[in-house]
Amino acid sequence: MEPLLFANSGNKELVDDVLARLQATDGFHETRLGRMHLDFHPDGEPFVEIFDNVRRRQCIVVGCIAANGSHSVNDHAMETFVLLDALKRADANVDVLALPYLPYARQDRRKGGETDRTAITSKLFAKLLTIASPIGRVCAVEPHDVHVEGFFPCPFDRVPSIHLFTDPVKRLLDTNSIVAISPDRGGWERAGALSTNVGTPRLIGWVDKRRPAPGQAKAHQLIGDVKGLNAVIVDDMIDTAGTLCEAARLLKENGAERIIACGVHGLFNGSAIERIMKSPIERVFVTNSVEQKPAARACEKITVIPIGDLLAQAVRRMVTGESLRTIGKP
Ligand code: R5P
Repeated sequence: MEPLLFANSGNKELVDDVLARLQATDGFHETRLGRMHLDFHPDGEPFVEIFDNVRRRQCIVVGCIAANGSHSVNDHAMETFVLLDALKRADANVDVLALPYLPYARQDRRKGGETDRTAITSKLFAKLLTIASPIGRVCAVEPHDVHVEGFFPCPFDRVPSIHLFTDPVKRLLDTNSIVAISPDRGGWERAGALSTNVGTPRLIGWVDKRRPAPGQAKAHQLIGDVKGLNAVIVDDMIDTAGTLCEAARLLKENGAERIIACGVHGLFNGSAIERIMKSPIERVFVTNSVEQKPAARACEKITVIPIGDLLAQAVRRMVTGESLRTIGKP
């Protein structure tokens, strides 16, 4: 029997795309959305009822967890926990949990402003998922840092996504003029991946970014040369766009010509859109790993790249036992 697909309500468009692509693949032609009812009690608590008999049935769960304008990160997280718990109690075999965006991943060690008395939310989130249901394997598109895999008791795979930006960037900029920039110390691998993928001869650049207070970003120094070149900033996520716009300011001050940004997860919270509009950034590429808010969809600087094919490929490989290493490789 072919696997059933279940999803929370966080990104219906993406889930439909993943399903359609799976159904077009051998071994998944009969895969369909599991029949279930997902609703909210008047106080906001999610309620899930599964209508299919899923006893010992192989299931794929897609958990789309990000604020999308109508629901918060926590609403979608609770939906996912409740869905997993309902499947567990119905004796389903949750073979694959696919997370287009892994939330709570930025706090992966104890680090506070004045003390280290903080939570490690990344570990907590992984634990809550696996308490909700035993899960065979987990994959997440471009998690903040790969060492999050150690927080999961099951196999965890990163789904690489930087290759999706190659063609869009090359359509805008001459390859030899491109210098890939990491807007902070943690993102050099992603900048390196973009640099290799587009085939620029230039070395990557880094920004020494600090956070003077939670939610604030300050770009202090640029390491690398951008004078007369076109800078492409690469990041895993754009939340308030503080990191991005600070990096862009510094790049401009250092003589960059055109500035493009690639951020895998376009969260666009707070005044992100206004910041981007006021910044020297010409174009921002994000994926649809999170459902875009209306303001982001309407923003002329933002282009959304679909990841349905990427996620379907990852899920298919995890179900059939193929390697994920060749994803995005020619
Ligand atoms: C930080 O380490 C992340 O990679 C992103 O750079 C950061 O979370 C983006 O947040 P914001 O857009 O609010 O500056």
